Amino acid sequence: MDKDSTANHVPGYGARSGWSREHASRIERSEDTTAPVFYPPAVDEVPDVHVWDTWLLRNRDGAIAEIDGYRVAFSLTASADLLPGKRHDVATIRYFYSSDGRAWHKGGPVFEDALGQRTWAGSALYEDGQVYVFYTAAGENGAAELTYSQRIVGASGGTAVTDDDGIRIEGPWTHHELIRPDGDRYEREDQSRGMIYTFRDPWFFEDPQTGETYLLFEANTPVPEGSDVCSGDPAQQEFNGSIGLAHSPTGDPLDWELQDPLLDAVCVNQELERPHIVYQDGQYYLFVSSHMHTFAPGLSGYDALYGFVADSLQGEYVPLNDTGLVVTNPSNAPFQSYSWTAFPHREKVLVQSFFNYFEFDADSMDLVAALPESEQMRRFGGTLAPTLQLRIEGTESEILGTLDHWHIPLPREDLPPTDRELFERADASTRSYGGDASD
Ligand code: FRU
Repeated sequence: MDKDSTANHVPGYGARSGWSREHASRIERSEDTTAPVFYPPAVDEVPDVHVWDTWLLRNRDGAIAEIDGYRVAFSLTASADLLPGKRHDVATIRYFYSSDGRAWHKGGPVFEDALGQRTWAGSALYEDGQVYVFYTAAGENGAAELTYSQRIVGASGGTAVTDDDGIRIEGPWTHHELIRPDGDRYEREDQSRGMIYTFRDPWFFEDPQTGETYLLFEANTPVPEGSDVCSGDPAQQEFNGSIGLAHSPTGDPLDWELQDPLLDAVCVNQELERPHIVYQDGQYYLFVSSHMHTFAPGLSGYDALYGFVADSLQGEYVPLNDTGLVVTNPSNAPFQSYSWTAFPHREKVLVQSFFNYFEFDADSMDLVAALPESEQMRRFGGTLAPTLQLRIEGTESEILGTLDHWHIPLPREDLPPTDRELFERADASTRSYGGDASD
């Protein structure tokens, strides 16, 4: 890996790798990183609930679990009657299932007794007939007001029961608090000076090279007040996102010890959301979602999927495409999708996200709140977005095309070539016949 890659990373806060201001300062849309404009699906699979952050039930090795021919997706959800901006305050995990990766059926709420005032994202493991759901308990149970504390919880005891009607994910569940921020490697809420505090979004991951078991999560790095870590600009210090790591010494999915963060974005960005890894060609591709409004002063980025690559889990990670930008929305629909997760499909990488605000071309998502409520409702997708197809090689990625909303192809499914691939093939065959037509 290019040793110069993190030259601008500020050392001293535990993370081995960093997203530097230098790399982030070059973020710019390109054909390879910009998704096409999305339109609402012909049929809304789940009209009565808003659906956003989504994750698939997976086996320990990361493969999508298939149980008696069904695959299961978990999503953050809220009643579709609710103003979309309020949904985070009442988020509930529901599940959906599909036998063909196209039509998804509603399974209902997963828990009745989750910890926290609301449940945020999330990953899920299927092992030996048991379902484990890892989630974020946001807010303190019993508090009169909404609070923003976050801790990471694992629910065990779940089973998957199939019959003629489909598949049911059932309890009784036991909810275990797995990790809380230690205030040293990971900022506690009372240390936070930043705009949006984070300690959330657990992602189960077994390292294929070592067989060790990890949990990745979104966090912030405690930067002491008065530090001159960001070249003397104190305002930048409040932007201290990190990708946290916990290790299970025994492999037990409920037994974790905090380790140093994998990567931080101190002086660069406040929120590195929903971290996860795709292992491909012996490389670790580490992805996060982040927002336009969470970049530190002096930097401008987009609501986008950002990625980094290393040849071991611990890194050192270098940003993909030089800047980290992997997938963003088009400039005339900058908030059309969010919360991307990447997963391998044959030689490609597919990226699933949710359909966010469409027909909304503003400089900031905050301006949604200025729209009449009926428009806030109408322009919110609240369902899954079209799945994107990517090619990733080494440190470069490119968007090749799309699949339908909610389409998560079965492992055995061959994807027809996208227009871009057909164009490339035609171009290559012209070249192999001598290329220049004037010859
Ligand atoms: C990303 C996110 C997650 C969080 C959830 C809350 O879309 O901010 O980090 O778990 O939304 O709704």
